[in-house]
Amino acid sequence: MESALDPHAALALLEWQVELGVTEAIGDAPVNRYALADTAPRPDRATAAAAPSQPAAPQVVPKTDPVQEARKAAAGATALPSLRQALAEFEHCELKKGARNLVFADGMPGSRVMIIGEAPGRDEDREGRPFVGRAGQLLDRMLAAIGLDRQKNVYITNVLPWRPPQNRDPLPVEIGMMKPFLERHVALAQPQVLVLMGNISCDAVLGKRGITRLRGQWTQAMNLPVMPMFHPAYLLRQPQMKRQAWADLLELKAKLKEQ
Ligand code: URA
Repeated sequence: MESALDPHAALALLEWQVELGVTEAIGDAPVNRYALADTAPRPDRATAAAAPSQPAAPQVVPKTDPVQEARKAAAGATALPSLRQALAEFEHCELKKGARNLVFADGMPGSRVMIIGEAPGRDEDREGRPFVGRAGQLLDRMLAAIGLDRQKNVYITNVLPWRPPQNRDPLPVEIGMMKPFLERHVALAQPQVLVLMGNISCDAVLGKRGITRLRGQWTQAMNLPVMPMFHPAYLLRQPQMKRQAWADLLELKAKLKEQ
């Protein structure tokens, strides 16, 4: 009879098996497959003598293209709740694994103004709603200054629906992967203007960065007038830039009047 392994040896054996790729136990008792081979030759062994051994055919693992999967999932959504569901079921973005919550949107769907931020931070991840931390509170004050209110006439989302670890910047691959969802989000929310908060949103929607140059100028994307603005988190760090932000808010107000 085999003697029982001491706990250290058992742990080392287990680690070794995990390194080899073992992911689950398929039986309670171990089977010595070398011993089995003597009594029950496997078909490949039986024919080995007759035929020269062939290299095993490479296993074909179907490759999935996450962007393609995102396009399919987003296109299948016919309304905002089904888009939210499609995002919740999307398994190709690693950020999802580290996030507490999906941060889909906040505010009034169908509003004339849709704001696109960057990605959830710690507070947003905890609450599952965009712009609820300090930057969000400043955003609410900025909007209130021109008569906008997320409870009534603004709809808010982010480029990424999951918090990046340690609030690092979203990676280009993450922005590209989630863009089909963002495009579908805009199409389903049907705003009349988009406001892009900061460089990441400009990157996702306009394909370029340079917020200092881009801010305050109306441009066109996703079939809509688009206004890039300084991100409220940047304004918290650089309060002297609030003057420009105020000018941009007035631009937005004027645009809403003329439409
Ligand atoms: N910054 C963003 O861009 N989005 C949020 O939701 C919060 C902070």
